[in-house]
Amino acid sequence: MENHAVAEERYFYAPLIKFERTIGHSRHGIAEHHVIDKRIAELDQLEMSDPNWLKVMKKLQDKVLHHLEEEREFFQQAGVVLTDKQKIGILAEINDFDTEVDYASLSLQYTF
Ligand SMILES: [Fe+2]
Repeated sequence: MENHAVAEERYFYAPLIKFERTIGHSRHGIAEHHVIDKRIAELDQLEMSDPNWLKVMKKLQDKVLHHLEEEREFFQQAGVVLTDKQKIGILAEINDFDTEVDYASLSLQYTF
């Protein structure tokens, strides 16, 4: 998860900060990654038997699902501002950096 977030921030969000149309999505996405990181760290501090574990897990789940939903819109906006060459370059950089995920098999999520 952390590799994925760093790859996304470095190779996807960062170039999109340059465009007026996608700067808001980029900044918001990075901020949400930080919230997700905080929830994961919070969860790491709790035992599963702790009564708060399920509450924190639910908050994490809600935030991740919300983030994924917003990213769908973000990918569409990115598709408008990026050239095909830029899109291919971004996917290649993400694939090279984060080898834990087979992004080619996630073509639906990363179609932009
Ligand atoms: Fe993300």
